[in-house]
Amino acid sequence: MTAFPETVERVGIVGAGVIGASWASLFLAAGKEVELFDPASNAEEDTRRYIETAWPSLNQLGLVTAGASPERIRFVGDVASAVAEAQFVQESVPERLEVKHEIYGQIEAALPPDALVATSSSGLLLSDLQASWRDPSRIVLGHPFNPPHLIPLVELLGNERTALGALDFARAVYEGCGKVTIRVNKEVPGHVANRLQAALWREAIDLVLQGVASVEDVDKAVTAGPGLRWSVMGPHMLFSLGSGGAGMEGFCARYGDSFHRWWDSMNAPRLDEEAGRVLSEGIIEEERGRSFAELAAERDRKLIAALRALA
Ligand SMILES: NC(=O)c1ccc[n+]([C@@H]2O[C@H](COP(=O)([O-])OP(=O)(O)OC[C@H]3O[C@@H](n4cnc5c(N)ncnc54)[C@H](O)[C@@H]3O)[C@@H](O)[C@H]2O)c1
Repeated sequence: MTAFPETVERVGIVGAGVIGASWASLFLAAGKEVELFDPASNAEEDTRRYIETAWPSLNQLGLVTAGASPERIRFVGDVASAVAEAQFVQESVPERLEVKHEIYGQIEAALPPDALVATSSSGLLLSDLQASWRDPSRIVLGHPFNPPHLIPLVELLGNERTALGALDFARAVYEGCGKVTIRVNKEVPGHVANRLQAALWREAIDLVLQGVASVEDVDKAVTAGPGLRWSVMGPHMLFSLGSGGAGMEGFCARYGDSFHRWWDSMNAPRLDEEAGRVLSEGIIEEERGRSFAELAAERDRKLIAALRALA
C-alpha cells in the first residue's frame, strides 16, 4: 500500500502551456518548490512571464503564502528530472492519448515510490490514461478550470485501480493551495463541469443558429441572469429556493411540465463550418474591436473581484 507524504514541498509540472503555466504559478504561490519540464523552446520565457503576470492576482486573492517565491522554479531538460524529487506531479501535456501514454512511461520510470501524479485531462477517461502504467494506482484525475490559478474548482476522480488514500492526498494538496474540490464518482467523458458547460453551450449555440437571439444577447442572458446566481449557489439549490418554500418535490410538481416542454423542444447542433462562421461573426461584433489581451485581462479582473466579494 502506498503511504503518501504528510506534506508536499516539491511539485513536478510536466507540460507548461495554457494550463501547466497557471498550475506552476499556483503551486509557487502556495510555497512549493517547482520543477518543470516542457520541450517547447520558449517554455521558460513564456512561463516566467505567465508567473509574473499571475503573481499580483494570486496576492489579491490571498493565495501567496509566507515564504513563497516566484523564483523557486527550476526549468529542467527532461521529464525524469521534473518528477524525480517530486511528491506530487501535475501533468498538463496535450490532450492526446498517445502523447499522454508516452510521457507516462517517462514519468513512471523516475517517480519516487510515494509520489502521486494528477492529470489535468479535460475529457479523456482515467481508465484509458491508466492503460500505459505498470502501476496504474498512482495516477488520478485532477481536472482544473482555466485558468487554474484563479478558478477554484478541481475535479477529482479515481477508480478501482487507484491507490487507497490517493484521492484524499490529492484533495489535501489542492485544498491546501486554496482550491475547491469535488469527487467524480464515475468515469464519463468530460467529467462533471465540462458536461454542464457543454449542455448550456449546446443550447446557447442553438438559440443563435435558430435566430432566437444574437451571440452577444445570449452571452448577456447568461452573465446578467442565471450566471450571476450560479456563482453563489448551484442549480439544484437555486430551484429548490425557487419553490417558495415547497422544497424540491414541490418545485418538480409545479414546474415539471414546463421543463419537459422546454427540454423536448431542444436540439443538438453540431460545431460544423456553418456554426463556426455564424458564431465567429457574432463574437467579432461582441468584441467591439477589443483585443484578445484586453478581453482576457477584463475576464481576470472581474473574476478576481467576484472571488474576493464571495470569499
Ligand atoms: N485549455 C483549457 O481550457 C483546459 C482546461 C482544463 C484542462 N485542460 C487540459 O490540460 C491539458 C493541457 O492543455 P493546454 O490547454 O495547457 O494545452 P497546451 O497545448 O496549451 O499545452 C500543452 C503543453 O505541453 C507541452 N508538451 C508537449 N509534449 C510534451 C512532453 N513530451 N513533455 C512535456 N510537455 C510537453 C507543449 O509544449 C505545451 O506547452 C490537456 O489535457 C487539457 O485537456 C485544458
